Amino acid sequence: MDQLNERTEALRLRIDAARVPRHIAIIMDGNGRWAKQHGLQRVEGHMNGVRGVREALTGATEIGVTHLTLYAFSTENWNRPSDEVNALMDLLVRTVVNELDELHENSVRLNAIGDLDSLPPGCRSTLEDAMRRTTGNTRITLTLALSYSARWELVRAARSIATAVRNGELDPDAIDERTVADHLATRNMPDPELLIRTSGEQRISNFLLWQIAYAELWFTPVLWPDFRREHLFQAVLDFQSRERRFGLISEQVTPA
Ligand code: FPP
Repeated sequence: MDQLNERTEALRLRIDAARVPRHIAIIMDGNGRWAKQHGLQRVEGHMNGVRGVREALTGATEIGVTHLTLYAFSTENWNRPSDEVNALMDLLVRTVVNELDELHENSVRLNAIGDLDSLPPGCRSTLEDAMRRTTGNTRITLTLALSYSARWELVRAARSIATAVRNGELDPDAIDERTVADHLATRNMPDPELLIRTSGEQRISNFLLWQIAYAELWFTPVLWPDFRREHLFQAVLDFQSRERRFGLISEQVTPA
């Protein structure tokens, strides 16, 4: 075993299996800066970012995480130069096609959230085929947030709730947190308990704003193409060392 694997294994063994977050969300950031540091084109940073996706998924599966959600393309990313946008879409399609058999063999369910209608038709149909094929898989759900932003999702939820009220299907007084959650793209998922962002930036960038109300946040300077299982395990260990109070006081959470 090489040194990285030894270190990773040592971290993994320290994780308390009973307190693994069910859902981890990741803002994958730093592909462009990684490419620049290596004297490469930005798109090569994204291509190398696929390794980070593999590592995060493998690590999450190994420790029993049941939902992994990756911010792959934001609504705002459409404003990037068209070459980069096209290259990202191609990469997405190629990656899903190349990895699909392995995802399926490992019982990974592929899911996507966001304004999928805005994706190029080929990209959308590849994703839909992959989602259909893996729909019965139960080990882990890998959700790609594509053409996604939390404000887009909340506006859409508000419209759909208003429509239900107008149609007489919903009493406004009966609207509660559950109603809102049920109108979000994540309606069948537990909320993320841990949110990771790479590349040293410390902001949320319009990602899962409703769902991360109680999530623990973990930031690392590591650029996404350099993200390894080791980093995921560090984040989970840090998560397990924190006291999550949900607005209560310490003694209520861990009675003496
Ligand atoms: C952020 O880095 C990354 C993205 C906008 C795209 C993420 C895409 C991948 C990791 C490719 C593979 C993904 C899948 C799901 C197959 P950035 O470009 O914002 O980097 P910068 O801030 O350094 O410029």
